[in-house]
Amino acid sequence: MAETYLVTGGMGCIGAWALYHLQRSGKRAVNFDQSSGRQRINWLMSAEDQAAISFVQGDLRDTDALKSVFAEHGVTHVIHLAALQVPFCRANPVLGAEVNVTGTVNIFEAARATGVDHIAYASSIGVYGPPSDFPPGLIPHDAPKKPRTLYGAYKVCNEGTALVYCEENGITSTALRPYTVYGVGRNQGMTSEPTKALVAAAKGQPYHIPFSGTMQFQLASDVARQFILAAEQPLAGACGFNLGGGAPVTVADFVDAAKLVLPAAEIEVADNPLPFPAGFDDSALRARFDTVYETPLEDGIAETIAHIQRLGDRI
Ligand SMILES: NC(=O)c1ccc[n+]([C@@H]2O[C@H](COP(=O)([O-])OP(=O)(O)OC[C@H]3O[C@@H](n4cnc5c(N)ncnc54)[C@H](O)[C@@H]3O)[C@@H](O)[C@H]2O)c1
Repeated sequence: MAETYLVTGGMGCIGAWALYHLQRSGKRAVNFDQSSGRQRINWLMSAEDQAAISFVQGDLRDTDALKSVFAEHGVTHVIHLAALQVPFCRANPVLGAEVNVTGTVNIFEAARATGVDHIAYASSIGVYGPPSDFPPGLIPHDAPKKPRTLYGAYKVCNEGTALVYCEENGITSTALRPYTVYGVGRNQGMTSEPTKALVAAAKGQPYHIPFSGTMQFQLASDVARQFILAAEQPLAGACGFNLGGGAPVTVADFVDAAKLVLPAAEIEVADNPLPFPAGFDDSALRARFDTVYETPLEDGIAETIAHIQRLGDRI
């Protein structure tokens, strides 16, 4: 059977990069997203390259629509990314639960109905509580999950949903938990500020990042490729992995790396640490996957700035 990759949320940042990499490697991709706005995809791909992708506009909350997409497109691989981010869940908790929790159940239901037996999906380091919950050091992938946001609580619920679908229906799954994703296309969500600062700096404009702290930065392109690998290489059971991405660095370090490329950049960083632990241990991910995509931060920032500059007025 021909392989078909379903990406949910392909109009979003990580999803657009997933579509980019799938198309570039000649894989058939279907995007399911409620949005028809191709802004981020246009930043990554020509209209000609986009023509190879099937775009389906639909709502994750619509069980039948998802089942139809799986059946009609012969979906064999699933990369489930569509979700509402922290600020949106905070602003509308009911909608947040419908999209992030019920929507994920719908993905598993559509898989069950069509015989798809593995799903890769996005969780988040938001499943964990603040640094005060943990001893010092990197947080292991199986550390206790006591989120302090509804967004995080919904992600915990999804990881529980995945466990039950594995036990009751034999559908295996791999959740990846990104931290601060940066790169072209990262323009919404709580931790999108460092990327917005790169866009401003590349245009010669000042920017104020409203948080500080130590964290792990992950390049959107790398994250997307890791999701593709997670969809292609099923593991036994319902697994969840932190995406690490090297030693934690401060937001100020991120700005310093940007200044290596743009010495005149005017980026201020507020004295306001985010309430998340500094770093997450990705050794479990490394033990289970031969490849972990991890562009060094300075290279990723330089690539991102160059990409922003190529886009010029289009971004
Ligand atoms: N970006 C990060 O730093 C980060 C960190 C941790 C986890 N994640 C997770 O990774 C995934 C992708 O993140 P992103 O930054 O690309 O998100 P994004 O906000 O850029 O994109 C999300 C996409 O989901 C779509 N969507 C929202 N509601 C929908 C619905 N009801 N039906 C269909 N589509 C819908 C949106 O239209 C959008 O295109 C999400 O699940 C997110 O929670 C992201």
